[in-house]
Amino acid sequence: MSRALCLAHMREDDLHAVVQIERLCFPDPWSERAFREELHKPNASLWVAREEGVVGYGVLWMQVDEAHIANLAVHPQHRRRGIGRALLRALLLEARRRSAAFVTLEVRVSNLAAQQLYAAHGFEVVGRRKAYYTNNREDALLMTVTQFNTLEYQAQLADWAAMLPPLCCDEHAT
Ligand SMILES: CC(C)(COP(=O)(O)OP(=O)(O)OC[C@H]1O[C@@H](n2cnc3c(N)ncnc32)[C@H](O)[C@@H]1OP(=O)(O)O)[C@@H](O)C(=O)NCCC(=O)NCCS
Repeated sequence: MSRALCLAHMREDDLHAVVQIERLCFPDPWSERAFREELHKPNASLWVAREEGVVGYGVLWMQVDEAHIANLAVHPQHRRRGIGRALLRALLLEARRRSAAFVTLEVRVSNLAAQQLYAAHGFEVVGRRKAYYTNNREDALLMTVTQFNTLEYQAQLADWAAMLPPLCCDEHAT
């Protein structure tokens, strides 16, 4: 029987699946050790989307009042089903819970799929980092939600919260 999509905080026993997806998604993947270290950092929040197993994940860092989307990926076989959108929204809601004033991220200039996803969530290009990615010296676009603390954006977040997939049943609301 197939299991419905749900969201959960990443756990140690998700790491193997997460790293497999990471390797499929990025030419410069984070190591399992890097993810494990993130799990123990109080300023990091790591989420997974699960069905039969992990199908995607996202990582948010808080630096004072800046929330930074540090990682977001969906298994190639599970793309275009709204999982990336759900994870991004979960991270944005986490940013709100942690009182972020604004949200930032870097994205490859060639990564039009991710840029579209971010633009649909209020991210705007505010800068360009030359040769940011070490594997091919590709530039990064710096994208920011500057309107994060406006009433309009907070209302939008509340709507998105209502549309999120449920928490996985072994997940405790924190
Ligand atoms: C970017 C990524 C996370 C999107 O995940 P996904 O689950 O496929 O995305 P969703 O199905 O939730 O799509 C949400 C929106 O993103 C945009 N999008 C996603 N994939 C797209 C594509 N291939 N082409 C154009 N737009 C795309 C669309 O606006 C889409 O909305 P729509 O389906 O209504 O048109 C996924 O493509 C991925 O893991 N890529 C590799 C890793 C990566 O680039 N991460 C981001 C690093 S900054």
